[in-house]
Amino acid sequence: MIRKCLFPAAGYGTRFLPMTKAIPKEMLPILTKPLIQYGVEEAMNARMNTMAMITGRGKRAIADHFDISYELEHQIRGTEKEKMLADIRDIIDTCTFSYTRQAEMLGLGHAILTGETLIGNEPFAVVLADDLCICEGEGVLAQMVKLYNEYQCSIIAIEEVDPSHTNKYGIIAGEAISEGIYRVHTMVEKPAPENAPSNLAIIGRYILTPDIFEILRQTKPGKGGEIQITDALMEQAREGKVIAYRFRGKRYDCGSIDGYVQATIELYEKEKQV
Ligand code: G1P
Repeated sequence: MIRKCLFPAAGYGTRFLPMTKAIPKEMLPILTKPLIQYGVEEAMNARMNTMAMITGRGKRAIADHFDISYELEHQIRGTEKEKMLADIRDIIDTCTFSYTRQAEMLGLGHAILTGETLIGNEPFAVVLADDLCICEGEGVLAQMVKLYNEYQCSIIAIEEVDPSHTNKYGIIAGEAISEGIYRVHTMVEKPAPENAPSNLAIIGRYILTPDIFEILRQTKPGKGGEIQITDALMEQAREGKVIAYRFRGKRYDCGSIDGYVQATIELYEKEKQV
């Protein structure tokens, strides 16, 4: 059973400056909820209840968000507005949150390794909150947990991207074992289109087996001089221990202005219909 979900949330969010000077990018709202809350709700939908946050300087708002605000709750008790806190209250009542800081930005692989102290020796999920995934029915992580239970190895979510965009993603190639499911044999971090092994891009959802920590400790800096989770996963893939899954649902790249605005508009339209 997978109980823990890791949220690397130490990045600067420079694409949203000056907005992200004093507010973490994970706290950017889509309608009335911050991005990271969507990620936590997706983890809960996959029956996880232990949220491990990798934060950094200037990220205290995240810890405050997932905590009780007595003054506020006292103020609105018994009013119409109380129901607006119902979801976050449920999260606080159901989940445990723990935090550790990544002191230096040495890459996503390094951020995940920083989380070892919160995860320990068990399989766990990773959510990159700026990839917002909206699904009818089961969330992406819940879909991935089912595959984990079947294959007992690391699982990564993928989608097809325009071949000219391969340099924005980790790209995989593998053998299709059934519809939308691949056993990965190659992974490359952000290859130029002419070097990409396919157009199947990794999106920000992973289930990782805990041996990844030891592999990450041995992983040398790769693309951009950073320790890449893609390179560490390639070690597992060499042994046939990575499954890629083309998930059911839609991903918005809320790390970019275009994706963020599109998510806001589409979720707003959806909510209006309810
Ligand atoms: C990270 C990963 C990349 C993956 C992407 C998904 O890149 O390194 O392999 O495709 O997340 O969002 P980043 O977007 O943090 O540069």
